[in-house]
Amino acid sequence: MSSTDHESLRQLLTDAILGSEFRRAAFGGAPRYGPTAWQRVAIRAIELRGERWLQFSYFDEKKDITKNFRAAESAAPLDEVMAIGFANVHLSTASEEVDVRTSKKGKVFVSRKPAEESKPVQPHNRLKDVPLPEGQANRLLEVMGILTRDGHVRPTMRAKYTQINEFLKQLTHVLDDAGLRSLGRPVEILDCGCGSSYLTLAAHHYLNDVLGIAAHLIGVDVNEEVIRKSIERSERLGAERLQFACARIGALEVQPDVVLALHACDTATDDALAQAIAAEARLVLSVPCCHHHLNEQLRPAGPAEVLRPLLRHGILQQRTADLVTDAFRALILRIMGYRTEVVEFISTEHTARNLMIRAVHGAPVGEASFVKEYLEMRCFWGVTPYLETALGERLQRVLAMNS
Ligand SMILES: C[S@@+](CC[C@H](N)C(=O)[O-])C[C@H]1O[C@@H](n2cnc3c(N)ncnc32)[C@H](O)[C@@H]1O
Repeated sequence: MSSTDHESLRQLLTDAILGSEFRRAAFGGAPRYGPTAWQRVAIRAIELRGERWLQFSYFDEKKDITKNFRAAESAAPLDEVMAIGFANVHLSTASEEVDVRTSKKGKVFVSRKPAEESKPVQPHNRLKDVPLPEGQANRLLEVMGILTRDGHVRPTMRAKYTQINEFLKQLTHVLDDAGLRSLGRPVEILDCGCGSSYLTLAAHHYLNDVLGIAAHLIGVDVNEEVIRKSIERSERLGAERLQFACARIGALEVQPDVVLALHACDTATDDALAQAIAAEARLVLSVPCCHHHLNEQLRPAGPAEVLRPLLRHGILQQRTADLVTDAFRALILRIMGYRTEVVEFISTEHTARNLMIRAVHGAPVGEASFVKEYLEMRCFWGVTPYLETALGERLQRVLAMNS
């Protein structure tokens, strides 16, 4: 670590942050040049419509504000941040990591070391036209354990990598429809059953760093170990606006704009849908996983007796239960005010669980024709979908008022 004067420090930070190799910087600690409204400021390099921008995020105790500036117009906002005199600065470029500490007496110490970033892969190896192309989001993919250090997707992680890219494409597809680009504040996103947080980290990076849409993500999972690992990964990435919570889906008191659930087990998918409906989230993207709850209730009795051949064989009964469960889910979302589609988001080669329920808030609530369909289908199968139970009074009121 070497000491330096304030003018040299200013020059060092300006050259690094406005330079083409800049990745991210975090300013924090006590302000040395007087009071400031902000506790921390983060700056990231992002690419918007093929152009390089710098995204400035200003944090105080309660809120954060994000502003994007073209790289060429970033000198003035950067000067303002440097004028605060935050005691600590950490910045990363493609080639080095720089740490700056200013002591109480105003002495500046700088330490510099080569970056740990992996080398970019050669262009011919890159999978282009996907949200996270190989060779561009390397640091993220490496921390996620998807890339090797020399920049190639691990063969065992290829399916997960493809799932995440296809999921993000679906998210991009409905951003405008759900009004998420123009909220005037960070988009609140809840990833239910986040597991090892591949989707959480990828969505965080893609929205904040690539699309320039400020987004705050929370990953929730009941499994303590995956949450511990996810926190560790987010710290390695130095990601702002990213949290993880060890809890059951539905237990967190949050008001998400977007609810994501990728392969949340069995009724955990329904808990995620119920939380989205209760919060009137603008967008739900859910890829269901195993379906056990309704399968256990399906008996060839009553009107469904006629389908006995379909339910005689275990595998046919299971597939029927999958379809009936997802049809009920889509119908309940529609009744509760969501324009809902069920789509194949990826080919079965990458996962057998490849149906996505995509729902955008804004349809009329309790439309009588859908309520009728729901009640008739429920009566035909003689079952109570878990989502109906999870929604309780909220759904019962709508059914009663419109039947
Ligand atoms: C198959 S993993 C999927 C993980 C991740 N979404 C992905 O696709 O990589 C399902 C995750 O859901 C979590 N889970 C299951 N039920 C849950 C519940 N009720 N509340 C919170 N997490 C749950 C499990 O602990 C597990 O980590």
